[in-house]
Amino acid sequence: MIQPLIDLVEQQLLPQLNIESVYPHDPIVVHHVPKPWKLLGAGNYAAVVSHPDFSDMAVKVYAPGRPGLEDETEVYRLLGKHPAYSECYHTGECYLILRRLSGITLYNCILRGIPIPRRVIDDIDSALDYARRKGLNPHDVHGKNVMLKDGRGIVVDVSDFLKEESCSMWDDLKTAYDRFYFPVLHHMPVPEFLLTAVRKGYRWFNDHGRTGSDS
Ligand SMILES: Nc1ncnc2c1ncn2[C@@H]1O[C@H](COP(=O)(O)OP(=O)(O)O)[C@@H](O)[C@H]1O
Ligand SMILES: [Mg+2]
Repeated sequence: MIQPLIDLVEQQLLPQLNIESVYPHDPIVVHHVPKPWKLLGAGNYAAVVSHPDFSDMAVKVYAPGRPGLEDETEVYRLLGKHPAYSECYHTGECYLILRRLSGITLYNCILRGIPIPRRVIDDIDSALDYARRKGLNPHDVHGKNVMLKDGRGIVVDVSDFLKEESCSMWDDLKTAYDRFYFPVLHHMPVPEFLLTAVRKGYRWFNDHGRTGSDS
């Protein structure tokens, strides 16, 4: 039954959770997570937390002013059940209750020097193909939105899959994996400031560098 968790979210978590969207292009800022909730991660729209009594669920709370809750619900409806994706059990006014995924994001793998097998990349490729067959358009698939779990790849964030414009992030990540990560880095941890610099550089390059560069 999910109702006890809904009650905890609405009576205990939401009144005390303090999250803020500071800059639209940077991850939201988490100021306070009330006990005994645990922060699982934060993204560009939301903070994701879990409660110890409901450890197989994740509660994704959208920061005030960040859109996308209804779209994400709809994406999960279209995806149905698939091993590489979570599921949405409930949608509240500013939060979703999702099946918890217990992997580690590829971003954190790189930070900590955990090797990423090529099979993970192939799993994510086929999960994205599956989403396309369901009429979706995989979007914003980057290192913090995909995970390694028991040697397999899973997709943790589908919130932008209804967007229509194309997105080259996953193809770029694959190219970086084959050209740089696999041959050079592999087990080597990379400091966070460098990954942040790569993210900012990547955005700058996309905003300025690519226009008219296909000729
Ligand atoms: N279902 C889940 N199970 C476990 N952790 C999750 C789950 N969903 C998200 N997370 C964690 O929270 C982070 C932010 O979630 P995400 O869905 O990417 O938010 P956003 O849409 O704001 O980018 C992820 O990078 C991941 O670490
Ligand atoms: Mg995300």
